Amino acid sequence: MKILISGGCGQVGSHVAELFLKRGDQVVAIDNLATGRREHLADHPNLKVIIDTIADKALVDKIVSEFKPDAIVHTAASYKDPNDWYNDSLTNCVGGSNLIHAAKEYGVKRFIYFQTALCYGVKPLHQPIRLDHPKFPANSSYAITKTANEDFLEISGLDFVTFRLANVIGPRNVSGPLPIFFQRLKDGKKCFVTQARRDFVYVMDLAKNVVKACDGTGTGAYHFSSGTDVAIKELYDEVVAAMGISPYPEAEIKELGPDDAPSILLDPSRTFQDFGKIEFTPLKETVRSAIEYFQKHGTLGEYTHLKLEKTK
Ligand SMILES: NC(=O)c1ccc[n+]([C@@H]2O[C@H](COP(=O)([O-])OP(=O)(O)OC[C@H]3O[C@@H](n4cnc5c(N)ncnc54)[C@H](O)[C@@H]3O)[C@@H](O)[C@H]2O)c1
Repeated sequence: MKILISGGCGQVGSHVAELFLKRGDQVVAIDNLATGRREHLADHPNLKVIIDTIADKALVDKIVSEFKPDAIVHTAASYKDPNDWYNDSLTNCVGGSNLIHAAKEYGVKRFIYFQTALCYGVKPLHQPIRLDHPKFPANSSYAITKTANEDFLEISGLDFVTFRLANVIGPRNVSGPLPIFFQRLKDGKKCFVTQARRDFVYVMDLAKNVVKACDGTGTGAYHFSSGTDVAIKELYDEVVAAMGISPYPEAEIKELGPDDAPSILLDPSRTFQDFGKIEFTPLKETVRSAIEYFQKHGTLGEYTHLKLEKTK
């Protein structure tokens, strides 16, 4: 099989690429290294890595027309500066629609997308959030532009799967609380923990189901979630344990901010129906693998997807 992966040097893209390469498939990855790293993807005879941007329409057309992939796994996303609407639009809207147009033009059979749970807004109406929850992406340039791209996909006529995700963690994770806790604890700084609960999944559990989706499982939108949420404090405790820090460094418990939902939990029932039973990796093991990675390679920078005040 031939797979084109946008954002192939990122957390999700690189894990998906490894799975395809392991089973003998051919992979072309395109990444502009905005948040990914070239070393996330080891060289392989069946892998071609193009360091460039999906915002370049002529380039995307050339890659798709020459490589003729069976599926496109579109993980590339821009999110690192909440005020950089230009680059969020360029990657998430223009880049995304370049890939969709090329997929249509050159007969790509499957298109896999990754949507953010922020598409439901920061005060979701359901708990857990059902797939029929209206989209309210306001308040984040990332969510607005990611949602536009999902909406384009929905009207494209392509055979697609969109995985809607809350928090994907594991090795090569550059956004969210996990790399922030690691870096602050390593620097001997105090961590801040809100009383929020969040829905965390291990990147490799997602990657295995992306492969299934490319092979033909599913159609339309899915929540990739275990169906249980975790207190941020539990995540913090697992990071402390994985780093072997003693005595226990107390975290400062903060009230929820105006933009913090008490819980973001996605209802995975349709995913279990169509993808079957999923063995979710326990949080302890997931955190251990991420910390092992950070200890070897460091964190790249710690990004959030929302415009938030930075803690000092
Ligand atoms: N990680 C999460 O918790 C999470 C949650 C919800 C949705 N998602 C979505 O999942 C997908 C994968 O996320 P991830 O955790 O792997 O993020 P990531 O930042 O690790 O990977 C994204 C990759 O896209 C690359 N990229 C950015 N702009 C590009 C461009 N113009 N052209 C080519 N490459 C470009 C980056 O360099 C990076 O390697 C994204 O679409 C993201 O919106 C992730």
